[in-house]
Amino acid sequence: MNAKDKTHFLIDRSKCIKCGKCINTCSGMVIEIGPDGYPQMKEFERFGWRGCWRCQHCLAVCPQGAISIFGKKPEDSLPPAPKEMGGYMERLIVNRRSCRRFLDKNVDPKVITGILSTMAAAPTGGNAMGVEYTVIDDKDRVEEIRKVAYAKMDADAKKHIYTHSFSDFYYQKMKESEKTVRKGDLLFCGAPHLFIAHEKCVGKWAEDSKTNCHLAAAYFELLCNAHGLGTTIMSYSAEVLNELAPEARAMLNIPKDHYTGLIIGFGYPEIEYARGVQKDRSAKTHRYTEGKR
Ligand SMILES: Cc1cc2nc3c(=O)[nH]c(=O)nc-3n(C[C@H](O)[C@H](O)[C@H](O)COP(=O)(O)O)c2cc1C
Repeated sequence: MNAKDKTHFLIDRSKCIKCGKCINTCSGMVIEIGPDGYPQMKEFERFGWRGCWRCQHCLAVCPQGAISIFGKKPEDSLPPAPKEMGGYMERLIVNRRSCRRFLDKNVDPKVITGILSTMAAAPTGGNAMGVEYTVIDDKDRVEEIRKVAYAKMDADAKKHIYTHSFSDFYYQKMKESEKTVRKGDLLFCGAPHLFIAHEKCVGKWAEDSKTNCHLAAAYFELLCNAHGLGTTIMSYSAEVLNELAPEARAMLNIPKDHYTGLIIGFGYPEIEYARGVQKDRSAKTHRYTEGKR
């Protein structure tokens, strides 16, 4: 069987107006005009760079809803985001804050399930979708992991052993912050839940794998915030699990050859912010207009 047969690419000829948009958006360049003038799927070797990327752009772009693929029907897709979303997105991004004080309670599992279902739509290089998500959605389990990692981190600190980015100075600062901003937990900021995007990271696509994880972390953070949850992006706790406390990392059941650069702590926030901060919006933007910088 040719790989093309597995796409189940179907054109509803009663709807297709032969506009060619499906051909012009196909990343894999596997759609062509057939002898009858309607789009058809070309033969191809295999999925990925040598064929269909499984991106479903053909289904998404068709103004007539004439294309189904992989058994997905256009009428089951979500409509595009409304234009007014721009303003809401601005508020979401500008007002997002690192939460380092959480309520000591589990988040409604239905909310977590909804967010994770949306996370399946996060982009990945080449649409390879190799990124995996590990979620610790039980605060007692997070506490168990915290205890193991903490014990090792504290014991190492007494011997002046730290992760690559830390030192006596930074560790002392973090210790101090436990009294106020970190509510007794310099490691996970007291977060009742953890989200970790991870991917097998080998060979020439290794950098893409890391980027996939970082993008997923950013999407997850914003989705949580949109649902009223607090989040903290944490590289230090990932360092501790990777470099000092492999026994704690093992409790997450993430394969050893998977990259885990960031951990997102999340939960109901203890602190509500009344307004956004006012970051300098132009400082880092290099915009070329009419050829001039
Ligand atoms: C790559 C990255 C790593 C971070 N690691 C940590 C961390 O380990 N612990 C922590 O409390 N905050 C961490 N943060 C949060 C930043 O400290 C925070 O974004 C910064 O203080 C600005 O605050 P804001 O997020 O509220 O705008 C990290 C943020 C990024 C983007």
